[in-house]
Amino acid sequence: MSEIVSLQQLTRELDLLEKEAAKEISASNDADGLEKLRVNLLGKKGRLSRVLGTMGQLPGKERPLVGQRANLLKNQVQKLLAERLQVVKSIKMAKLIAEEEIDITAPPIGFPLGHRHPLISTTERIVDLFCGLGYSVAEGPEIENDYYNFEALNIPLDHPARDMQDTFYLENNLLLRTHTSPVQIRFLEQNPPPVRIVAPGRVYRRDAVDATHSPVFHQVEVLAIDECLDFSHLRGTVLAFLKAFFGDLPVRFRASYFPFTEPSAEVDVQWRGKWLEVMGCGMVDPSVLEGLGLDPERWSGFAAGLGVERFCMVRHGIDDIRRLYTSDLRFLEQF
Ligand code: DAH
Repeated sequence: MSEIVSLQQLTRELDLLEKEAAKEISASNDADGLEKLRVNLLGKKGRLSRVLGTMGQLPGKERPLVGQRANLLKNQVQKLLAERLQVVKSIKMAKLIAEEEIDITAPPIGFPLGHRHPLISTTERIVDLFCGLGYSVAEGPEIENDYYNFEALNIPLDHPARDMQDTFYLENNLLLRTHTSPVQIRFLEQNPPPVRIVAPGRVYRRDAVDATHSPVFHQVEVLAIDECLDFSHLRGTVLAFLKAFFGDLPVRFRASYFPFTEPSAEVDVQWRGKWLEVMGCGMVDPSVLEGLGLDPERWSGFAAGLGVERFCMVRHGIDDIRRLYTSDLRFLEQF
């Protein structure tokens, strides 16, 4: 700087700087802005330093006066910055509080909750009702072998149920079970009578899909073996269960045939003016008991296989089985 500065001039500049600083500080609205302002005013290359840079041109004895004045300014600016920072922070906090306030009068948003698939809840209802009659739950594998799925159940090689059309065969004499009846055999092998069990599960058949067929469906197997069970126990149990499940729907027993029961029956309920088969049942064939090493003179019992899809369709008024498998939430969320 070629111009020679005077004490007066410097003091005026410092006064001016202080005024400007006060104005700028009070106009600043955030912490970042204030920090930039601090650097701009008091930093090494800031405005105060620039003014003081000319101090060397003053006579030695005047310099401390300027130094004192500069210190006052620095303190004042620091004080203003700190005060403003407090104000800016509390404004920000007040704003946050106002924005984040919980409005307890706002309508609830509602959290979507998953729920049981109707086939699962129907299975659970069936199982619950039998548990109420003193039955416990048993399970068996979905991949079975020929012995449990057919042979032990008295189903001879030429029985139509063994037809390639009906059964999904796997390698090594394995197959996908076509019904839950093999659980009867597996359970009796491990547990001496008396037994009362229900065995829910998935079963597989080579059926084309239509309104009433699916290659995968669900059954609940029922088995009771004791010392003097007869058909009246079967009938009484089935009727008590159906009444608990369906209420007062008309029910009929129809004579039928299954290789592993004798006599055998199918049970229909009347629904929408038609008879609909919902289970097969019968007295366990003595030859099945014999195959398990049980004396048919001492032990007798009954068994039933319930079609879960049928129970589900009647319970919920569903007329097409495919609806249960398509995972369409608009449909499933109704239940
Ligand atoms: N397992 C038979 C089927 O899937 C249904 C059945 C009939 C099961 C009679 C039984 C029974 O336990 O006693 O077609």
